[in-house]
Amino acid sequence: MKPETNGSKMPSILVTGGAGYVGSHTVLTLLERQGTDIDIVVVDNLSNAYRAQGQKQPEPIRIIEELTDKTIHFYDVDIRDKDGLSKIFEHHDIESVIHFAALKAVGESVQKPLEYYQANITGTCTLLEVMRNFGVYKLVYSSSCTVYGEPENLPINEGHPTGRGLTSPYGKSKYFCEEIMKDVCRSDPKWMIVSLRYFNPVGAHRSGRIGEDPSGIPNNLMPYISQVAVGRLKELQVFGNDYATVDGTGVRDYIHVQDLAEGHVKAVKLFHQPGFGGFHAVNLGTGTGYSVLQMIAAFEQVSGRQIPYKIVGRREGDIAENYADVSLSQRLLGWRATRTLEDMCADTWRWQHNNPNGFKK
Ligand SMILES: NC(=O)c1ccc[n+]([C@@H]2O[C@H](COP(=O)([O-])OP(=O)(O)OC[C@H]3O[C@@H](n4cnc5c(N)ncnc54)[C@H](O)[C@@H]3O)[C@@H](O)[C@H]2O)c1
Repeated sequence: MKPETNGSKMPSILVTGGAGYVGSHTVLTLLERQGTDIDIVVVDNLSNAYRAQGQKQPEPIRIIEELTDKTIHFYDVDIRDKDGLSKIFEHHDIESVIHFAALKAVGESVQKPLEYYQANITGTCTLLEVMRNFGVYKLVYSSSCTVYGEPENLPINEGHPTGRGLTSPYGKSKYFCEEIMKDVCRSDPKWMIVSLRYFNPVGAHRSGRIGEDPSGIPNNLMPYISQVAVGRLKELQVFGNDYATVDGTGVRDYIHVQDLAEGHVKAVKLFHQPGFGGFHAVNLGTGTGYSVLQMIAAFEQVSGRQIPYKIVGRREGDIAENYADVSLSQRLLGWRATRTLEDMCADTWRWQHNNPNGFKK
């Protein structure tokens, strides 16, 4: 692997999967918040990120450099490539790692379990091994509320059992990775791992320059709604309206991706707190759930577009309702989500409207 940019010995944060949706917003927020005293190194194999022909940087990274006037060190490397990763650690003074890189489509993971376990579990183990080899013990991990399975009580707090009744290899891979990280932390007190359990990230940076750009038909509600609004898709399918919820449709805790990104910045700050160590799982959500129909109405209101939809049968593996107990994130990280449902819809719409085909021109 040949480094694409000159290395630097400035203290650096390594961001795996930093060209993806949540990763790119976090990179931008880190650069906006951290000033000039930290370098950002991104590793991404571009399996779910777009690089225009003839460009060195993937589009989100190129745009972030433009927005911030800062340089990002980018490497087109797979996190399972131990030698490739090791060279990056040799080249940069990595202080901590934020680990987003993973495959994330729940439905696809049922069809391709080995690919998911390879990317998500082998990838995470390789990263942890290389970190240990280079004496880097600080990690923020992208986990998911999926690890809770069907909620036994609401709101869900971090003490809720995990790993029970998980139906998809994707969800299991997130759960297994958390278990591996707990063992790693037990093996050596130098480790500090914060596993952030995201609820449902939506929205885009307020500039409208970066946002969620799913390839193919979106799996998640918000990009589906916005692609219907912009005319890329004809109508939305609503999976089930007979759940025991406010209007029969599924209820989820949607969180603005910028709030999520700020949660990561707070998690990295924890590493500097005296006495901090070990494994910590923390929910990142708003604590409020909205139904599918409430989301459609809010998006119509903000965009001024009608969202045609059709009610169809329930989707296997879907649950009626979930939303987070966010008290630990407030206590431990000093963080809480501040953006409203209107912000989530307005920022998604700005991104989608300005970029109807996502990053591809
Ligand atoms: N978006 C969500 O709804 C959501 C919810 C909960 C948790 N998460 C987790 O957050 C993380 C980021 O999600 P996202 O929505 O930004 O996904 P994304 O697909 O947009 O970003 C992931 C990035 O990782 C890269 N990548 C994948 N496998 C890789 C590998 N083996 N080596 C190097 N790079 C690789 C992809 O090219 C992509 O750019 C994932 O770990 C995901 O499981 C996402």
